[in-house]
Amino acid sequence: MADGVVIAIAGAKGGVGKTTTALNLGAALANAGERVAVVELDLAMANVVDFLKIDPQTTIHDVLSGTATVSQAVSRVPPGVDVIPADTSLDDFNAVNVATIAPVIRALRPKYDFVLIDTAAGVSPETIYPLRLADEVIVVSTPRVAAVRDTKKTIELANRVNGTVAGVIFNRSGTGNAPPPDRLASFLDTELLGAVPDDPAVADAQDRSEPIVIYRPDSPAAAAFSSIADSLIFAHDDGGDVMGTGGVGDFTRAEQIAKAAEAADPGDEALKTSDEPDDGFRFVDSG
Ligand SMILES: Nc1ncnc2c1ncn2[C@@H]1O[C@H](COP(=O)(O)OP(=O)(O)O)[C@@H](O)[C@H]1O
Ligand SMILES: [Mg+2]
Repeated sequence: MADGVVIAIAGAKGGVGKTTTALNLGAALANAGERVAVVELDLAMANVVDFLKIDPQTTIHDVLSGTATVSQAVSRVPPGVDVIPADTSLDDFNAVNVATIAPVIRALRPKYDFVLIDTAAGVSPETIYPLRLADEVIVVSTPRVAAVRDTKKTIELANRVNGTVAGVIFNRSGTGNAPPPDRLASFLDTELLGAVPDDPAVADAQDRSEPIVIYRPDSPAAAAFSSIADSLIFAHDDGGDVMGTGGVGDFTRAEQIAKAAEAADPGDEALKTSDEPDDGFRFVDSG
């Protein structure tokens, strides 16, 4: 059986919709018959359990601290997504060895068509590992200028660790007077994978502890997530033989790289803002 594709859902900013995207792409892929795992690698600010009807006794924290196997930490949710959530308490946080995420992903890869890694905000070894380990990185951003600037840094960071950026998803599109998603994607010099509208049904779905593609498949946001999932299936339709590194790689410099990327000038000449986040947003094409 061909190994699955490992995709990191990344983005430097919190609250842009990384977790929402990981869970909804996961559910949409499963709806389409794909075997999907979603791994929550937001170790300090875990909240996948808040989005789903699960109450796990074993989490990725136990796996990464060596006290549980990967399969013990799997919670299956409709429509057949295997979720490996993180622990919402910080009790086990210090015991965790983030480097052991590499063998965890290696163990999951042959069992699934898609392994999605929901990552943390910020720039730290915890966010760098998945960028490097994944076959591809999908960055999630809102179309707001501050978020786009941070997204530029995430792409820069992924490039520095030899990650492969597949493209960007703009979430909560259609609000304010942000530039259109295709212009923002070309500013970021990356592929536009989709734009998910700001949709009140997303919060309703979350209140119901269900992905919106399950709770309200007819909603605009669900349609957008499903269409992105279809593109992912299409892109990997060749038997899923995309080769990932699967290796541990050299992460000894992870901390240094994180600092360098933090300091990196995102080259934001092309993003002129007079008044963030909405009013007076001016976007000037670079080059
Ligand atoms: N398309 C959307 N429309 C409306 N609300 C959204 C949308 N996407 C995400 N949200 C809301 O934004 C908040 C942050 O989303 P989340 O996925 O937790 O972001 P992150 O993982 O990047 O921190 C959540 O309360 C979520 O319900
Ligand atoms: Mg999150």
